Amino acid sequence: MDQYIMKGQVPLSGEVFIAGAKNAALGIVAAAIMADEPVHVDNIPAIGDIQALIAGVKETGASVVEENKHRWMINGSTLHSVTVESGELQKIRGGYYLIGALLGKCHKAEVVMPGGCNLGARPIDQHLKGFRALGAKVEIRNGKVYAECERLVGNHVYFDVSSVGATINVMLAASLAEGKTILDNAAKEPHVVDVANFLNSMGAKIKGAGTDLIRIEGVPKLHGTDYSIIPDQIEAGTFMVAAAATRGDVVVRNVIPKHLESISSKLREIGCEVVEGEEEVRVVGTNTIQATNIKTLPYPGFPTDMQPQIAATLALATGTSIISETVFDARFRYVNELNRMGACISVERDNAIIVGPQRLTGATVNASDLRAGAALVIAGLCAEGYTTVCDIEHIERGYEDFLEKLQSLGAVIERVAENDTRAKTKFRMRVS
Ligand code: EPZ
Repeated sequence: MDQYIMKGQVPLSGEVFIAGAKNAALGIVAAAIMADEPVHVDNIPAIGDIQALIAGVKETGASVVEENKHRWMINGSTLHSVTVESGELQKIRGGYYLIGALLGKCHKAEVVMPGGCNLGARPIDQHLKGFRALGAKVEIRNGKVYAECERLVGNHVYFDVSSVGATINVMLAASLAEGKTILDNAAKEPHVVDVANFLNSMGAKIKGAGTDLIRIEGVPKLHGTDYSIIPDQIEAGTFMVAAAATRGDVVVRNVIPKHLESISSKLREIGCEVVEGEEEVRVVGTNTIQATNIKTLPYPGFPTDMQPQIAATLALATGTSIISETVFDARFRYVNELNRMGACISVERDNAIIVGPQRLTGATVNASDLRAGAALVIAGLCAEGYTTVCDIEHIERGYEDFLEKLQSLGAVIERVAENDTRAKTKFRMRVS
């Protein structure tokens, strides 16, 4: 397994270009098989999660052409199987979108249960509730979700919780159902809106995406399209917070500032200067980071996917900060790793209490999931001395060219093989 090795206390500076949104791309790539014509999708991030989903798409028999690093053509006209059980798919969460896509198109789906970041219980009961409301018989057995129906008929679906995945998944199936579907208490994230816009570009009739009430009028078929995915809100936020933590000056380009408002607001609260342009945001860090309190919430609240990264920054803040994690029940696994670097964070149920300022010092730490890994890199870039982050495959499955982008901002960081002590020694000699 590879690792990142880095030397801290170098302020990040310069500009970084943000890739397409991972959590929109997963829904869109799955939805692309629903047409019987070529679908071209641009600005797809070149990350492990997409490769895994493409493996699942290929299992259905849909044709796939990688037109360039960020552009794919998918044609569902050659689709001949509703069974998807590739091991690759068990590593990611987004594979379950193939259930909604296949159920909508073929009225049948047999898809391996989802994997993805270990953030505690991540049930899919709301997905199944939605499929059943549309008339599907759904059961879980042998590690797979089996869904089937004679007819798919629109219905009123009230989600017990605001769920990005369930909203997107049921929206996929309902797009080709007979009659009207209402998704009530729907998720409002930008990536939900992007999937709805993509489906509408294929001829679907979806209104209200971005609100908690989405109205869908089923259509008999979807047609080809050429669509470009929105920028990744969380990748952008990660680099904004990295700029703040390292007291740097970074312009994050190719973003939609509106999607970043909750993050920009918090960075201003802790003392950073945040300047918003048309498609870029500049973050100038401050030497004295102020403590603050954060509550993660569904969009437009502060994103749970930014929680580990901001926690690493608040470890450096003057004062005591409290982070309340209201979305997932086990998203503080990274705290022990940060405390090994000198942070002073205690976890009490859904709250992390962060006492600062602390002097972070380099250590060897383990990434438990995608965003936790990003947080540990941010901490390493601020710490005195050298930090090694292990299990970086978690990070690279969700951030395109993460290492290269950090290096372009001046970070002293490299990828090394786990047991390559020579490379590690060379790195330390070169940068000391
Ligand atoms: C998506 O996960 C994202 N993943 C997550 O990003 C993100 O953290 C999450 O939405 C919240 O924004 C993808 O889009 C691939 P949810 P998802 O359904 O859809 C509960 C990242 O770092 N719930 O919105 O799985 C659930 O347990 C990843 O990019 C049910 O109870 O999240 C959670 O407490 C990590 N039943 C809450 O709802 C269900 O059927 C929100 O989950 C579904 C969800």
